[in-house]
Amino acid sequence: MRRPSFLSQRPLLLLLLSPWPVWTQTPAAAAHWGTQGAPHCPEACACAPDGQANCSGRALLAVPAGLSRPVRALLLDHNRVRVLPPGAFVGAGALLRLDLRENGLRWVHARAFWGLGALQELDLGANQLETLVPGTFAPLRALRVLSLADNQLARLEPAALGALPLLGALSLQDNDLSALAPGLLAGLPALNTLGLRGNPWACGCALRPLCAWLRRHPRPAPEAETLLCVSPGRLTLSPLTAFSEAAFSHCGQPLAPRDLAVVYALGPVSFLASLAACMALGSVFTACRARRRRRAAAARLRPRRLPDPGRGPASPADPGSTENAAAQA
Ligand SMILES: *[C@@H]1O[C@H](CO)[C@@H](O)[C@H](O)[C@H]1NC(C)=O
Repeated sequence: MRRPSFLSQRPLLLLLLSPWPVWTQTPAAAAHWGTQGAPHCPEACACAPDGQANCSGRALLAVPAGLSRPVRALLLDHNRVRVLPPGAFVGAGALLRLDLRENGLRWVHARAFWGLGALQELDLGANQLETLVPGTFAPLRALRVLSLADNQLARLEPAALGALPLLGALSLQDNDLSALAPGLLAGLPALNTLGLRGNPWACGCALRPLCAWLRRHPRPAPEAETLLCVSPGRLTLSPLTAFSEAAFSHCGQPLAPRDLAVVYALGPVSFLASLAACMALGSVFTACRARRRRRAAAARLRPRRLPDPGRGPASPADPGSTENAAAQA
């Protein structure tokens, strides 16, 4: 992919002006901008004048070091990068396209894509991803095309994708997805192409958001007509597009935020109320018992005092005897 004219003459200029020992490169290599081993190109890769760093198929175990701003496209496909650590692409802040297909990739750290605010295309296809942690794609505010095809994703949390305002195409085909979480498509307002085939879609209530999205986007993908759900038994092999909103009438409406707030508030409030009621009942009960005990004690004392021979007639100071006198009067 050689660029003609002035771009291919830049190495010549470099040759004349640069303090680097570029003249040690072969003339063929020097015909490309920042070629292998040059300051702007990772050592293991070949760089082209348009900013493409081609590191594909080089048995790399990690993202090569030495990425810098001139790199606009990074081809890392067909390597052995199993894990993407935090800040895996720092330095490549102007990256527009990143290809990570076929790496046996298993784990992407939540901050792996930090600093890639300009990235428009990300291909993570044909890897071994089973899960994606929340916030993984959050820094990629300019992302337009994302492929997660041919992985082992069984769930895809809305928090993993986050809100990607410009994402127009999302490939999810050939994974283990049986449903899409309710908030997932809501965070992707620009989405118009959605790859879905090759997943074990379950035709239950959980499929409602996806079916609603498919009805609103009549031609989201050429294969939409052939999308079938594989469970439950009764509905096996029904096309996804065949489900009208009426088919989900038995599912019940999802709760509105206000209702949810009431439900969430009701728990603690009723707990506190029952706690208060228990405490009130308990203190009433103990007060009653204490009073009954005091009375019983008083009743036990009284008959012993009455027949006391040494005391003579009850004194007027004795409240018990005053009562007796009043009763007799
Ligand atoms: C990248 O380099 C490999 C060989 O190293 C080559 O086969 C491939 O075509 C290159 N890709 C592009 C897009 O230039």
